[in-house]
Amino acid sequence: MKRIIALVMVVSVFLFVGLQAASAAGVDVGIVLPTKDEPRWLQDRARFESVIEETPYSVEVLFSQGSSAAEKTNVETLIAKGAKVIIICAHDAAAAGIAVESAKAEGIAVISYDRLITGTDAVDYYVTFDSVAVGEAMGQYLVDNAAGKGNPLYLYAGALTDNNAFLFFQGAWNILQPKIADGTFVIKNSVQADNLKDIKDLTRDQLATIIGEVTTDWDMNVAKSKAEAHLTARTAADKGKCYILAPNDGTARSIADVFAADTDVTEYFVTGQDAEKASVQYIIDGKQSMTVFKDTRILATDAMNMAIEIIEGKTPETDAFYNNTMIEVPSKQSPVIIVTKDNVKEVLIDSGYYEAGEFTGI
Ligand code: GAL
Repeated sequence: MKRIIALVMVVSVFLFVGLQAASAAGVDVGIVLPTKDEPRWLQDRARFESVIEETPYSVEVLFSQGSSAAEKTNVETLIAKGAKVIIICAHDAAAAGIAVESAKAEGIAVISYDRLITGTDAVDYYVTFDSVAVGEAMGQYLVDNAAGKGNPLYLYAGALTDNNAFLFFQGAWNILQPKIADGTFVIKNSVQADNLKDIKDLTRDQLATIIGEVTTDWDMNVAKSKAEAHLTARTAADKGKCYILAPNDGTARSIADVFAADTDVTEYFVTGQDAEKASVQYIIDGKQSMTVFKDTRILATDAMNMAIEIIEGKTPETDAFYNNTMIEVPSKQSPVIIVTKDNVKEVLIDSGYYEAGEFTGI
């Protein structure tokens, strides 16, 4: 009998210690971000961490390093740790569908963060910036700085695996297409865009054809070698004052460097987005023309608040629906701000987003 009591005691101690360990390692909100290799996502993590400090909930942030397999493992890790909500910014919009379906099967709520996961009904909410507006702001900037006819236009896009790349490009196209049709711009680096230049509302397949040709894969090196190849293939007559649609800040900087180094390019206008520190310095230095500022403080806060509401059994507020090719996903959408040399200090320094000391010449 004594032995049995001793055994029961030992087993209970084990169970107790085991449960303690499980709950200590457990997490309430799991966050999966695409890669550490682009400054944008490190900024998002920093914003998440400052929101998290204010809440009583435990959170874990994992990076997928540009791999769908790692993304799936990350989701599985968070499921195993007992996450109640998973916030995920997909590396690959379609592949992530399979990962979040296993979360959904466990009753875990899924919030798509910044990039919409496509082709599945396992997404509960989407927290995003207005991505069509991002592209429209880029297109408008180029239009506002062009005069006369025949201005050379070079188009670049994000990754085909990212639903946002489609929204950004369609947004830019909404503004640029009428100006291509009336001869203000002449496309110099995309046969596919040129073939479709009379169509304003492109289908997803048409967008994919153009993006497939001028994609940067969100990779600065891909952007650099594409821009080099494009300029090498062109004569001085196709250069002069150039207008460049670059899809984000990292690619904008590398494309800008290539154009700046070409002696036949007399001036260039290049777009960007994310207000990465290095691009803010480029804007101050006159090497990048603009960026679209997406205040990650707002997005991270919105996503965390949504997660907390879900944990507390409340229904989060949404203000839009985004179609993910399978369902209409209830979404919370945030506006974006255009930044140029003229307002960079006011928008990014005076608002406390960055500190003046992080830059030179501001
Ligand atoms: C997009 C995101 C952009 C940009 C880009 C490159 O999905 O919305 O802000 O960071 O990815 O990673």
